[in-house]
This record gives sequence, C-alpha cells and structure tokens, in this order.
Amino acid sequence: MQIFVLPSYEGMSKKAADIVAAHIILNGKTVLGLATGSTPVGMYKQLVNKFKAGELDFSGVKSVNLDEYVGLAPSHKQSYRYFMQTNLFDHINIDKNNTYVPDGLGDIDNAGRYDDIIASLGGIDLQVLGIGHNGHIGFNEPSDSFAYGTHVVTLTESTISANSRFFDSRDEIPKLAVTMGIGSIMQAKQILLLASGFDKAEIIKEAFCGPITPRVPASVLQLHHNVILVGDEAALSKLVKK
Ligand code: PGA
Repeated sequence: MQIFVLPSYEGMSKKAADIVAAHIILNGKTVLGLATGSTPVGMYKQLVNKFKAGELDFSGVKSVNLDEYVGLAPSHKQSYRYFMQTNLFDHINIDKNNTYVPDGLGDIDNAGRYDDIIASLGGIDLQVLGIGHNGHIGFNEPSDSFAYGTHVVTLTESTISANSRFFDSRDEIPKLAVTMGIGSIMQAKQILLLASGFDKAEIIKEAFCGPITPRVPASVLQLHHNVILVGDEAALSKLVKK
C-alpha cells in the first residue's frame, strides 16, 4: 500500500487529482470508478481545473459510480447522478453516454446487472473511494458478511445521520441505496482511498491496522494488492507516525 499524507484538504485533493490525471494521461480510455460525498469534491475541482488548463482529455474516459439512493431521480439535487453532473461531468468533455451511475429508479431486484456493465467496460482501472465513519465503502455497511456484487442495502442510522446534512429533513433521506459490492470494488485494478479530517482518524486506523472483518467493510482493502491511501494529516494521524 502506498500512503500519501498531505498537510491539508487542498493538498489531499491535489494529490488525488494528480493520481487520477496520471491514469487518464497514460490511458485515454481508462475506466474510472467514482465516488460521491464531501471528501472527493476538492479532487473533482482540481480535475476540472486541469481540464480547463488543457492538461486532460476525458473524451475516451468511461466512468462507473459506486452507488445511488433508491427512489431518487437523476434530476433530484441529492441524487448521486446529480452530484456527478454538477461536480464533474458538466465541466469536462466526457461523453455522458460513457458515464454510469446505478439507477435509483431501476428494478432493485436486478441491481446485479450493474456488474454486467462494469464487466462490459473491461473492469475498473482506478476506483476512487471515501470511507464512512462506520467503515463503509460505497454503501457497503457493516454486516456479518461481505456482499459480493452490486446490491440493494438498508442504510444504517450512522449513515443516515451523516448524510442528513444534505437534506432539508431527516424524513426525506432515502432508507435504501444501490451499491457496488465488495467484490465489484475489490476487482478494480487500483484503489484510491481518500480521507480527510480528524473524525476519520479512528476508522482509518481500524480499517488498515485492525482485523479484516465485514464489521469494518473497508478493512477488506488490506487484501487488495494495489491500494493508494491519500489523506490529510488529521485523518491519518492515528495511522502514521510523524
Ligand atoms: P464523506 O462520505 O466523504 O461525505 O465523508 C464518505 C463516505 O460515506 O463514503
């Protein structure tokens, strides 16, 4: 595992954007696995800046997002499709037909078809991940077992509370989501996990220094052979000795 400790959120975002940019420069047809949430927003800003500066061409890039709320239309301001459009896709030259986000209004009994899409693209070259305070990656919540493929999950109270800041009222927060499974994520050729803030320090320590357990879903990343952890000093403070 490679670990980059940056002094600030901005530094973390720049480093993460550099790693994504390197993939695109080396392979114009790269398949990016993308994440939503507060953590990668700065990275997306940096990628947009690089595109506007003429440093990046997204025309051949394909993307697959980790997850989506069940019941939210793509036009809903809290849907993850909307997040991706407004934070990245609307500002770069990616072909929208080559951007995939699980369908929040789709047939939830057949959520696993998303894995067929990923397979048809040839798999994910670089998967960007955030981490929840409970150790979730995508919306793979703590559980008794690792779920393999894309599936529907019931969100935990911890996740609903963490995400309530984005909704007007708690009642509006969807209780279900579609998420890539742990198997879908682990098949990515490289993983880029981002973490920012002292509130993530404990879970980062548990995930990378504790036992591998579905109770801490991110701990499975200890088994992946190509993980890059990019974080600010606060998030990595319990992991890295200065
Ligand atoms: P955050 O969410 O980036 O908003 O902290 C991370 C996650 O829940 O995966």
